[in-house]
Amino acid sequence: MDMGLKNKTALVTGSTKGIGKAIAIELAKEGVHVLINGRNYEEVERILNEIKSDFPATSPQNATADLVDIEQREALFEKFPSIDILVNNMGIYEIMQYENIDDNTWEKYFRTNVLTANGLSKYYLPHMLKNKYGRMIFIASEEAVMPSGLMPQYGMTKSMLLSLSKSLSKLTIGTEVTINTIMPGPTLSENVYQIIESMYSDEDMTFAEKEKRFMTTNLPQSEIQRFIKPSEIGRLATFVCSPYASAFKGSPIRMDGGMVPTIF
Ligand SMILES: NC(=O)c1ccc[n+]([C@@H]2O[C@H](COP(=O)([O-])OP(=O)(O)OC[C@H]3O[C@@H](n4cnc5c(N)ncnc54)[C@H](OP(=O)(O)O)[C@@H]3O)[C@@H](O)[C@H]2O)c1
Repeated sequence: MDMGLKNKTALVTGSTKGIGKAIAIELAKEGVHVLINGRNYEEVERILNEIKSDFPATSPQNATADLVDIEQREALFEKFPSIDILVNNMGIYEIMQYENIDDNTWEKYFRTNVLTANGLSKYYLPHMLKNKYGRMIFIASEEAVMPSGLMPQYGMTKSMLLSLSKSLSKLTIGTEVTINTIMPGPTLSENVYQIIESMYSDEDMTFAEKEKRFMTTNLPQSEIQRFIKPSEIGRLATFVCSPYASAFKGSPIRMDGGMVPTIF
C-alpha cells in the first residue's frame, strides 16, 4: 500500500539507533526524505549513507545536533527551517532507585525528554500550520500510563508527553496537522539486546531462549512474550504520519505487546 508520503521531509530525533532508526527506515521506504539525528556526525553520516543506498529515490540529510543544547537546536532550525513531519523520538531511560534520584537527575530527565521535544515542536508547529499540513509524533512509553516504579524519573516525563501532545493538538483544530503520541512497550533496540545478552552471558542459550527466559521471569504481563521489533514501531509511526491517519488527533496510541492490562 502506498502511504502517500513521497517527497515529504521528516526529522526523526535520535535516529542513529533503535526505534528512531527504524522509524527513519520505514519512512524512507515510503519515499520520505529523512533528516537523521544523533550527537555523533560520523555515526549520523554512516546511517544516512545506509539509507541512501537502500532507498536511492530519497535524499536523507545529516542533522547532527545535541538537541538538549539550545544553541545546537537553533543551528538545526537554521539548517532545516521547515519540515513536514517531526518525530520526537529521542529520550533517555535508566532503572533507578527512587531514594537515589536527586534534583539534578529529575531536571535532566525533564530537560532531555520533555523540554527538548517541546522546543522542537514549538519551532516547527507554526510552520506546519502555515503549510496547512504536518505530522508530529511523540514517542512515549507504556511507562506513561503504567509506571513500573523502576524508573520514576523517566515515567514522569513520558506521562507529561501525553499531556503536551494533547495540548498542542488543540492548536491544530480544523487543519491537516496532527499531533499524536505512540507508546511502545519493551522494544528490542541495540541497547536492550546488549542488556539481555549480558544478563545471561554465562549461559549456553540462543538469543531467542534468553529472550523467552527474560520475558517469563521479568515481564510475565507481556501478551506477546517477546520484545517488540523496532520496525513494528516504525511501521506504526509511518501509518500515523500518512494522510490515511488524519483522524488521529491528540491520541495516545499503544503498541505495547499487551503490557498494559487495562482496556484504556
Ligand atoms: N527501547 C525500549 O524498550 C523503549 C520502550 C518504550 C519507549 N522507548 C522510547 O523510545 C525512544 C527511543 O528509544 P531507544 O531504545 O530506541 O533509544 P536508543 O537505542 O538509546 O537510541 C537513542 C538515540 O538518541 C540519540 N541521542 C541520545 N541523546 C541525544 C541528544 N541529546 N541529542 C540528539 N540525539 C541523541 C542516540 O544517538 P547518540 O547517542 O549518538 O547521540 C540514538 O540515536 C526513547 O524516547 C525511549 O524512551 C523505548
